[in-house]
Amino acid sequence: MAKIPAVGLGTWKASPGEATEAVKVAIDAGYRHFDCAYLYHNENEIGAGIRQKIKEGVVRREDLFVVSKLWCTYHEPSLVKVACKKSLKALKLDYLDLYLMHWPMGFQPGEEDVPLDLCGVVIPSDTSFLKTWEAMEDLVIKGLVKDIGVSNFNHEQLESLLNKPDLKFKPITNQIECHPYLTQKNLISFCKARDVSVTAYRPLGGSREGTDLLNNPTIRRIANHYNKSCAQILIRFQIQRDLIVIPKSTNPKRIQENIQVFDFELTENHMDEIMSLNKNLRLATFPTTESHKDYPFHIDF
Ligand SMILES: NC(=O)c1ccc[n+]([C@@H]2O[C@H](COP(=O)([O-])OP(=O)(O)OC[C@H]3O[C@@H](n4cnc5c(N)ncnc54)[C@H](OP(=O)(O)O)[C@@H]3O)[C@@H](O)[C@H]2O)c1
Repeated sequence: MAKIPAVGLGTWKASPGEATEAVKVAIDAGYRHFDCAYLYHNENEIGAGIRQKIKEGVVRREDLFVVSKLWCTYHEPSLVKVACKKSLKALKLDYLDLYLMHWPMGFQPGEEDVPLDLCGVVIPSDTSFLKTWEAMEDLVIKGLVKDIGVSNFNHEQLESLLNKPDLKFKPITNQIECHPYLTQKNLISFCKARDVSVTAYRPLGGSREGTDLLNNPTIRRIANHYNKSCAQILIRFQIQRDLIVIPKSTNPKRIQENIQVFDFELTENHMDEIMSLNKNLRLATFPTTESHKDYPFHIDF
């Protein structure tokens, strides 16, 4: 199993016009891990950035850790390889380092990313994530992906996957929302006990969702103490919890800032203070899918 670089570049909402440049800036700044997804509709532009930096000789393919995700409308086992190949083609790669099941929920296949009925509720497919997983295992066997993992799985869903009697490949990570307002203590302990790494998404609290994490007075005071930015404190916090963390930025200065997090260490007291900001505030709730049989957030963790 490959080692996942601790800081990766998030790419959700990196607009196609910005994504190529962001990837190039990120590679120059030292990023080697890129968190992509079919759903983000920018893999083509991300692939262009990667290709250019390889062509310039700045990095080799094997230096990079490129992640993509299987979208929910591709959970039918017969569609899994189709989806993976679409991402590979857009990214201009012949393998992915890691392919994640984006959510445990399958949706009706088709053109719409989130097919809704007349009431605005998602139309599910009758797939089970265990069957979808088997098709993802085939991608490893065929050499299209090096490793596979999951995202947005609760502990029961992860347990049922790990207990699958004929499991061929374990998920190497569970990518979940995680920041000081949603510290995910229980789910992280669960994953660690089962040797599944955790990748923290939305580590800065996202943008337009209305969190004030980047302006939180405690974070600001701690940031002043270390002469660092609030974002650097939020990223360093996750690294010291042994998590992988994937802040998104398309701004060159912020891309660079977000990886300058290895030259200081938060004290245990500061770590505890940040942990105590938890209020179980989940931002990525995906409300149109709440009635789905595999909706992950009806249970505590
Ligand atoms: N698996 C999933 O279901 C899932 C869900 C959500 C996200 N993700 C992944 O996780 C990544 C990160 O999450 P996210 O994009 O939702 O949110 P995030 O990384 O917590 O926050 C991104 C926002 O913070 C701003 N920002 C970045 N660096 C900053 C800095 N140093 N100072 C101030 N503002 C800064 C960005 O704006 P600028 O770009 O203008 O800097 C952007 O608006 C995503 O991009 C995606 O790859 C996965």
